[in-house]
Amino acid sequence: MARARVLSGVQPTGALHLGNWLGAIRNWVDLQESHDTFFCVVDLHAITVPHRPEQLADDTLTTAALYLACGIDPARSTVFVQSQVPAHCELAWLLNCVTPLNWLERMIQFKEKAVKQGDQVSVGLLDYPVLMAADILLYDADRVPVGEDQKQHLELARDIAQQRINARFASRDAAGEPVPILKVPEPLILPEGARVMSLTDGSSKMSKSDPHEVPGSACWIPRS
Ligand code: ADP
Ligand code: TRP
Repeated sequence: MARARVLSGVQPTGALHLGNWLGAIRNWVDLQESHDTFFCVVDLHAITVPHRPEQLADDTLTTAALYLACGIDPARSTVFVQSQVPAHCELAWLLNCVTPLNWLERMIQFKEKAVKQGDQVSVGLLDYPVLMAADILLYDADRVPVGEDQKQHLELARDIAQQRINARFASRDAAGEPVPILKVPEPLILPEGARVMSLTDGSSKMSKSDPHEVPGSACWIPRS
């Protein structure tokens, strides 16, 4: 019998931290035993916030190397870089055209990141969850192992697949039953380690996208 498929990804925005390990990658390593596993370095997501292109190129390779160092085995898992597969952007465009704007405006992570960027917020930042939905739906993933902060994005991916594509465009088989176009993925969130808090600000989650979080990284800014 075919094994269920898992897909997940991390942004190459700096050194991985304990939250990434406990919330996501630890789970990925175990899933290799029982699932068909796809692990992506999501570099197109990393350009939705201010970045330096040379640094991003380095961080993309470093993140892939860290996957291997953490126990992702390229003989058992497909490890790849998002920007090298144009179909991610192509599907994102198709999904954009059926996703209501107000679904995106409600996303907690968008609101948090937008506040930090003032009037420099890009359309890409708002559209981030649609690209993430495309990453997942493109591969017919059954399960998506992530930390707790990604739960809302996963719900959005499910709603897009179910309500905006399958419910509208599915054809019918000979018995008149709908034939879904997209597989509706399940989030896989471990009860322990799903939200590791920041060591410098206990009220927010540990994040490598936060320049205060990872001392020594190229973008580290001491908290004043
Ligand atoms: P970051 O927010 O640190 O830039 P990513 O957005 O690339 O990290 O997240 C990569 C994976 O790690 C995702 O599955 C995410 O849910 C998980 N993750 C990120 N931060 C934490 C945390 N503080 N606790 C638990 N899991 C986390
Ligand atoms: N948005 C995810 C995060 O910040 C990263 C991501 C992008 C992802 N595409 C994905 C995670 C697809 C799982 C599946 O953590």
